[in-house]
Amino acid sequence: MMEPRFEGRVAIVTGAAGGIGAAIAARLHAEGAAIVIADLKVEAAQAAATKLGPKSIGVSCDVGAEDQVESCVRTALACFGRIDIIVNNAGLMPFKTLAEWSGDDWLKVLRVDLLGAAFFTKQAFLHFGDKGGAIVNIASVHAIETSANAAPYAAAKAAMLSLTRSTAIEGRGVKIRSNAVLPGAIDTQMLWNNPNVQSGAEVIDKKDVGTPEDIAAAAAFLASDESSSSRARRWQWTAGGWPSSDQ
Ligand SMILES: NC(=O)c1ccc[n+]([C@@H]2O[C@H](COP(=O)([O-])OP(=O)(O)OC[C@H]3O[C@@H](n4cnc5c(N)ncnc54)[C@H](O)[C@@H]3O)[C@@H](O)[C@H]2O)c1
Repeated sequence: MMEPRFEGRVAIVTGAAGGIGAAIAARLHAEGAAIVIADLKVEAAQAAATKLGPKSIGVSCDVGAEDQVESCVRTALACFGRIDIIVNNAGLMPFKTLAEWSGDDWLKVLRVDLLGAAFFTKQAFLHFGDKGGAIVNIASVHAIETSANAAPYAAAKAAMLSLTRSTAIEGRGVKIRSNAVLPGAIDTQMLWNNPNVQSGAEVIDKKDVGTPEDIAAAAAFLASDESSSSRARRWQWTAGGWPSSDQ
């Protein structure tokens, strides 16, 4: 049987009270990691942690508020003594036409879908220490192709890819790896609540819908040492389009 890849490691997974995040938390935990579930919905986060079992906690955290991100990281360090993996999964996808979005609407989406990842990335650089670690950003297919009425979400997810590249570049010298997953349609509330899907403007064939566990498997690979082999690193740099001296 495969060795558990995350024995002795500690992971923070944001937005993991349900959906894709819960599947990622479950996968990392099943492979040995201690888990911090950081979610706006604290009761659901704590229930999800209880369901996982020992070595997991649920923490109240609005990822768009830097002080709450700092507090979540302090809690993780107090409980488990180290942080090795951060999965920036929390997300929000509201819908309006371009004429309707207010400045506050834009900022609300950018805070959760982009700045949340930036705040946790800062904490990784401050607290991963000499051992380094891995950041996995859950972006979206909307980062590269989108549909009507989701402009702030698409912009935030595109910028998240840029943040992932910046993190990989600055993380290289301090053993911090950074990758993004771009899910398509995945079977969660976010998909079925999408008004474009509900109205039929966006047609989703149920056969094409992925599961949260599919994304969890990809995230777990990217969080693991398997993705830090020189072969994987070459692929990551190539995918990032950034020239590397060791290619
Ligand atoms: N479901 C899909 O089809 C799909 C496709 C592409 C990308 N994604 C991305 O995957 C991620 C997870 O999506 P999901 O489908 O599981 O959604 P979901 O709505 O089921 O879960 C999102 C979770 O994030 C939490 N959250 C929302 N705002 C938060 C905040 N400010 N701080 C902390 N937690 C917050 C929610 O409470 C919830 O638990 C998101 O980043 C989403 O953009 C989903």
